[in-house]
Amino acid sequence: MKSVRVFAPATIANLGCGFDIMGLALDEAGDVLEMTASAGDGLCITNESGVPLPGDPEANVITPVVRKFFIMTGLAGHVDVTVRRKIYPGSGIGSSAASCAAAAFGMNELFGRPLGATQLVECAMEGELLASGGRHADNVAPALLGGIVLIRGYEPLDLVRLPVPEGFYCTVVHPQIVVSTKEAREILPKAVPMHDAVAQWGNVGGLVAGLYTGDVALVGRAMKDSVAEPYRKRFIPGFDVLREELLAAGALAMNISGSGPSVFALSDKRETAVAAGEIMKSHFASMGVGCSIYVEKVSATGAKLLSE
Ligand code: HSE
Repeated sequence: MKSVRVFAPATIANLGCGFDIMGLALDEAGDVLEMTASAGDGLCITNESGVPLPGDPEANVITPVVRKFFIMTGLAGHVDVTVRRKIYPGSGIGSSAASCAAAAFGMNELFGRPLGATQLVECAMEGELLASGGRHADNVAPALLGGIVLIRGYEPLDLVRLPVPEGFYCTVVHPQIVVSTKEAREILPKAVPMHDAVAQWGNVGGLVAGLYTGDVALVGRAMKDSVAEPYRKRFIPGFDVLREELLAAGALAMNISGSGPSVFALSDKRETAVAAGEIMKSHFASMGVGCSIYVEKVSATGAKLLSE
């Protein structure tokens, strides 16, 4: 019998222009799982986090990740998982991805690390498929690897870790509005007009160049989304006004975090990030919408072992 306690961080997917291909890891919010492997087979999930999760194991994202791990490795065993800490589902900062990444990472630790980093991302994506109906890795890849990750391609999975300029802060606001990732994906059109595609790939190139050269102004200019935001911003009250206020206060960029409803501002100073949080709070308060605010550093660390 072997037990581990593992952590995987919250993440912000898309980063504006990188729909389904870019994401970053935050440094504090995240999920903690305790996992034990013993002889036999089967999976038992217990939720001690205080956050409501589906009671049916078939509806829990951890289940397909554990199954996929056994399929990929040819190993077998009985696994007990206790969810100790959990990001609130639907918060837009990769709640399902943190569980998927922690489960994949924990399985690998329990069974002697048979999978490499890219395979772990593939394994964790199985849970994202259950959560959102899509096999996207822009939350699970940074949740496992840390930092900012580009998914250069899905077939085969090709992951590129991008440099993170010093002192990047994210202010995330989670307004009390419910938007499911499935719904936010279903409203997107199946084809992108050429004009929007040109704008998007210009921005993706600009963002990667800005990260490599440490040109924070270029990073800010490039974090624009012509593909998903035009359809999704209608779920977020006063979206355009909020962005104007945040940019005027010195934020480099503001975008929807993943599929929303959370929105994040990127800043290169802690004071700007804290001020952005105040602006977000009064914006949603003026609309009668409650919210939670997180101010976090971009973290170079992804999933990690807390104890054995
Ligand atoms: N790339 C995904 C989407 C992220 O935008 O639907 C979901 O968190």
